This record gives sequence, structure tokens and C-alpha cells, in this order.
Amino acid sequence: MGADLERVLITEEEIQARLAELAREIWDHYAGEEFLLVGVLKGAVLVMADLMRALPGSAPMDWMAVSSYGSGTKSSGVVRILKDLDTDITGRHVLIVEDIIDSGLTLSWIRANLESRQPKSVEICTLLRKPEAAKVEIDCKWVGFDIPNDFVVGYGLDYAEKYRNLRVVGTLAPHVYS
Ligand code: PRP
Ligand code: MN
Ligand code: MG
Repeated sequence: MGADLERVLITEEEIQARLAELAREIWDHYAGEEFLLVGVLKGAVLVMADLMRALPGSAPMDWMAVSSYGSGTKSSGVVRILKDLDTDITGRHVLIVEDIIDSGLTLSWIRANLESRQPKSVEICTLLRKPEAAKVEIDCKWVGFDIPNDFVVGYGLDYAEKYRNLRVVGTLAPHVYS
């Protein structure tokens, strides 16, 4: 499977070191107040697992699964909830955990949706962000890495559901697409 990668963009060590930094910043930010980690299935599974283990203490987690509404691309920005949170977030601090902000449309919808539930706060932590692909501006407090607008896989990110298990983030070799 490593042969399917054209180039490693971010190594395992770089990912883990950055997540450790973010975890400390996040922990200090909430200063002892409880916050709920909300992961967005499925890409955020790996970031969630490593970020929460890098926290100096424990935080509860919950998950949402969403899909773009109707047919075709997600460019409409209209999202359908496939699996909602199990928990009521009224009056709670919420930290959304994502693998990547691409156009930003998914997260902008999720954020607005969660904010409508009267939480105490909503913040976002994403491992990756593609500034050149942004269609909407997202106020994201914690970003692991800004990356170029190339198609990347690994560490939760898939191509046709493959490569999520890679420990690195990289670009796919052209032969994979053909
Ligand atoms: C990917 C990624 C983000 C979203 C970012 O998820 O994990 O959730 O797209 O794209 P956007 O910023 O352009 O909205 P995807 O819909 O592929 O589902 P997955 O996490 O199950 O792979
Ligand atoms: Mn996703
Ligand atoms: Mg995907």
C-alpha cells in the first residue's frame, strides 16, 4: 500500500508531535472546565484517538455522521445528519474534531447546527486545512497543518474508503486513479 503513495506530506512523527502540542493548548484553553469532543465520522477517527490520548486528562467524546444532501457533490453545502449526537450539548463546551477542512462547507454547516443547540461554546480542531480550497471562511481555533490543494490520503483520509489506516498523510500515485 505504501507503493500507492506518490509522496509523504506529513510523517507519523510530525503528526504525533503536532497533536501533542494541540492537546496541551486545548487543555489549557478550557482551564479545568469540561468540554465534549465531537468527532465527524469517519475521517476524524484517527485524529480523535490520538488527540484524546495526548490530552493531560480525560474528556468525553461523541460522534456525528453526516452526508451531503441529495445526489452529487457536497458543493451545495447542504448536509444531512446520518447519525446525530447521543448527548444533549445545551450549556456545554463543544470541540469539533476533524481530519480536514477542504471547502469548509461540511464544517460550516455542522458548526451552525451545533450552535443552534445553545451550547456554552463551539470550537474546532482540525489536523489539516487547505486554504486554497476554501469556499467559506471557517473560524478554526486549532489547525495542525495547512497543506496545498492536492488530493491527500492517510491518517483517516480515504480514497474510495481505502488508505485511512496509513500512519502518514500523502498524495496518491497517478496509477491508483487509472
Ligand atoms: C471529508 C473530510 C471532511 C470533509 C471536508 O469527509 O473527512 O469531513 O470531507 O470537506 P469539505 O471541507 O469540502 O466539506 P467525507 O465526506 O469524505 O467523509 P469521510 O470522513 O467518511 O471520508
Ligand atoms: Mn469526513
Ligand atoms: Mg472521505
